[in-house]
Amino acid sequence: LPTQLIDRFGRKVTYVRMSITDRCDFRCVYCMDEEMTFMPRQQLLTLEEIVFLLRAFCELGVEKVRITGGEPLVRRDVDWLFNELGQLKASTSLKELTLTTNGSKLEKYAQTLADSGLDRINISLDSLKEEKFKALTRTGDLDTVLAGIAAAKKANFKRIKLNAVIMKGRNEDEIIDLAQFAIDNDLDISYIEEMPLGHVSHAREESYCSSDEVLAKLRTVFDLQSSIASTGGPSRYYQVAGSTSKIGFISPHSHNFCESCNRVRVTTEGRLLLCLGQEHSMDLRDVIRQQPGDMQALKQAIIDSMEIKPKGHDFDIKAQPIIFRHMSVTGG
Ligand code: GTP
Ligand code: 5AD
Ligand code: SF4
Repeated sequence: LPTQLIDRFGRKVTYVRMSITDRCDFRCVYCMDEEMTFMPRQQLLTLEEIVFLLRAFCELGVEKVRITGGEPLVRRDVDWLFNELGQLKASTSLKELTLTTNGSKLEKYAQTLADSGLDRINISLDSLKEEKFKALTRTGDLDTVLAGIAAAKKANFKRIKLNAVIMKGRNEDEIIDLAQFAIDNDLDISYIEEMPLGHVSHAREESYCSSDEVLAKLRTVFDLQSSIASTGGPSRYYQVAGSTSKIGFISPHSHNFCESCNRVRVTTEGRLLLCLGQEHSMDLRDVIRQQPGDMQALKQAIIDSMEIKPKGHDFDIKAQPIIFRHMSVTGG
């Protein structure tokens, strides 16, 4: 078997985003509907299956694994999972273990996760105002998240990045304050364009705010120098002059980055999704459950899936969503 994953367009896949639960203690307006039905637990991969699966990827040249959700830290025994995954770094090509979280459980978990070998952490933060934070997340509490961020800082991760989805009429007025918060706390921050995944209760076209608008606003206050730094993710980065912080932009609509795509995702139920904005997929849960313990069969299925990785997404913020799964199932 080959030891690396290369698709039909010559793109090397070295990054896996694994969603370990579709559940979440928040209901962010751009991500979820007010009323959500979550997946029955028996459909989810078990934690053992997740470790087995990620081992296969890491034996196929994958260097970066990001654990996502829903909110990954609401899954029971998640500390066990990180402990197992941390050990993959010693025996496979895995170099970096990362996590995307809403921050609500970080006070409890930050130090344990750092000790398990979690290298980097991305924390969603869309507002610094109690009321607005509540309106955006519906069930989130700002102070708890701020305490989580503080705990993460104390735990000494390599780098902490904030994620902010900017929406017209909701948190557009906080673009500068969020950057200032990042700078004051020695963190990086990414501004994200809202993506049309699943049905939500507002018109996405109306709340859409392009990265160029965000950048223009930031430039009225900060001296931003275009940077070549990359985390291997889709962000385009700028260095804030006179500070340690970088500001990134994730702009699937205005600056499509599909050409250099290096990643695949695995959903909560073990569906390998070859593109966030398409439905091309391979059911890996089926492979794992039909042939338990058969690493060779699993690797072959992953290799075969490279043939169906599409060229790119067809997101159109103006049209009705074509992808009905919510972000919480794919982990973004
Ligand atoms: P690092 O670069 O490692 O810090 O990670 P990241 O910024 O890629 O990951 P994170 O989980 O913080 O995701 C930030 C945003 O980027 C989320 O809204 C993701 O949905 C989005 N994103 C990540 N990869 C892709 C991609 O391939 N396509 C699109 N359209 N969005 C992506
Ligand atoms: N569009 C853009 N970003 C989204 N996120 C969740 N849903 C969406 C969406 N529809 C973000 C979260 C989190 C990251 C994983 O994805 O804010 O930071
Ligand atoms: Fe939960 Fe993240 Fe979705 Fe917000 S964006 S509802 S925190 S999964």
